[in-house]
Amino acid sequence: MSDAKAISVLGICGSLRKASFNRAALNTAIELKPAGMSVTVADISQIPLYNEDVRVQGFPPPVETLRQQIKAADALLFACPEYNYSMSGVLKNAIDWASRPPDQPFAGKPIAILGAAAGMAGGARGQLHLRHSCVFLDMHPLNKPEVLIFQAQNKFDADGKLTDDVARGLIRDLMAALLGWARLIGGK
Ligand SMILES: Cc1cc2nc3c(=O)[nH]c(=O)nc-3n(C[C@H](O)[C@H](O)[C@H](O)COP(=O)(O)O)c2cc1C
Repeated sequence: MSDAKAISVLGICGSLRKASFNRAALNTAIELKPAGMSVTVADISQIPLYNEDVRVQGFPPPVETLRQQIKAADALLFACPEYNYSMSGVLKNAIDWASRPPDQPFAGKPIAILGAAAGMAGGARGQLHLRHSCVFLDMHPLNKPEVLIFQAQNKFDADGKLTDDVARGLIRDLMAALLGWARLIGGK
């Protein structure tokens, strides 16, 4: 029997809509995760728009909760929509809030990124912008596999189940890679 410790992952989805393809992709990642990994999903729906005047008075409770969840997690999994060739404002705003001092919680975190988009590029440009922020915040994103679910409107059924076998395989591979990556970086 392996004595490797379990890896806890915090999922963060950049879309708030109920029928979000990105949220559905995150659910698929939970479905296909390997043994030895747990995934919980953050609720970022109540995070206000960033305002430094508010921040200096203390983090709003939904931000404080997110910061604590990030700190406690061994790894992060971002579901990243593409809005106008960038990540969604919802995701950027949550990252901006959580990243503020003291003790910005992203530093050193192993992370994985997946995304679903209506366009043919599958959200590649949005994910690249997220990767830019990862550099500044000293996160350690997996480079591969890239999970770019293009024409997402054709890849999920009415219940939000991902029906595309290639995309499902990539998500399975991503989660397996994240387990190894988190163990390597976290020394677990
Ligand atoms: C403001 C806005 C901008 C968008 N820009 C892009 C884009 O640059 N590339 C793309 O492929 N899809 C774009 N879309 C379409 C989204 O990919 C599509 O709405 C997708 O379903 C959003 O993710 P969700 O299903 O998780 O909410 C955009 C949608 C919105 C609302």
